[in-house]
Amino acid sequence: MKTRLQAVVSLLVAALSLVGAASAQRTELARTPPMGWNSWNHFRINIDDATIRAQADALVKRGMRKAGYQYVVIDGGWEGFHDEQGNFHSDPQKFPDMKGLIDYIHGLGLKVGIHTTPGPKTCAGREGSYGHEKQDAELFAQWGIDFVKYDWCTAGQVYQLDQMQAVYKKFADALAATGRPILLSLCQYGMQDVWKWGASIGAQMWRTTNDIEDNYYQMMFIGLGQNGLEKYAGPGHWNDPDMLEVGNGKMKDEEYRAHMTLWSILAAPLFAGNDLTNMSAVTLEILTNPEAIAVDQDSAGVQGRRVWQEGPTEVWIKPLGDGSKAVAAFNRETRPMEVPLNFAELSLPASIQARDLWAHKDLGTFQQSMTITVPGHGSALLKVKSAAAR
Ligand code: GAL
Repeated sequence: MKTRLQAVVSLLVAALSLVGAASAQRTELARTPPMGWNSWNHFRINIDDATIRAQADALVKRGMRKAGYQYVVIDGGWEGFHDEQGNFHSDPQKFPDMKGLIDYIHGLGLKVGIHTTPGPKTCAGREGSYGHEKQDAELFAQWGIDFVKYDWCTAGQVYQLDQMQAVYKKFADALAATGRPILLSLCQYGMQDVWKWGASIGAQMWRTTNDIEDNYYQMMFIGLGQNGLEKYAGPGHWNDPDMLEVGNGKMKDEEYRAHMTLWSILAAPLFAGNDLTNMSAVTLEILTNPEAIAVDQDSAGVQGRRVWQEGPTEVWIKPLGDGSKAVAAFNRETRPMEVPLNFAELSLPASIQARDLWAHKDLGTFQQSMTITVPGHGSALLKVKSAAAR
């Protein structure tokens, strides 16, 4: 016979292992930063069944799935209404058969995401999940949804800011209760230091800032502003500086390359936000650069940080799982600038081998320092390892 103490201990152990299993499952949902495509940056609310199918098809045909882009996220614009029984219906004109669409995307070997809000209305004034959280979570699970972006939007009309954590946890718990593994992406623009509590309520990623724009200055402001948040990211839980604008047309190629370099060095979720059915070869090359993606998706899951700065130039480093380091340099000046890399100052080995991850070229061995020329509004992305370690 077990003593009372033994019984209590074994109950505790069982409970702890359940909690441990749940948290391991949550980590598995996003062991590396999630990758996919999201409708918002290009299409805004002008989406329908045909648009989403075409993007999913293009994602496969243009080789993006193969490069690692996995989720097709239907952002704001799909919503219809809640009926008298509280069932959420998609917009009957634009999305007549949500389940059919989701099955279609799954059939392509992709996963599906959807957007909703704890508020009564989405940011675009459409139906939200307020008062229907549990039922909506169950519906999403029945539909086969794999990813929910839960966006604060109008929730401020019905909740106080200090209720935000509880509001997000309520939905995370409702998703968990469905039994379907569904990735939870928080979107509340970085309020309440979300990076400090996002993981603990069960989310895999959380937006840290206001919306990105297809504009070099806004993109760099958001991306560089991530410095200091690195300790909150890691396997299973990621800071999200918002979706990519690469290919949306208002930045130059070098600026888009800097965007991809910065998001990769940050271990940021990579959600393409352009029209995949109408994408130039350069856009595709930037979005699918396997060496930049490998930096982003590195198994160690460390978010890079700024290690050097002088005027408009700066250097960031991200330690990689194989003991090497990714080094990114940025130049916010419009003309090319030389960026000195002093190895001692950057805590790099005295003798290193360097590889250029945009040119896909080994640059050779360098002692003590090297200088790289970074194009105006551009970036450099290198992988460096100790020349001693062969
Ligand atoms: C914003 C969000 C955008 C997009 C939009 C949809 O709050 O930051 O990424 O989801 O809502 O209305």
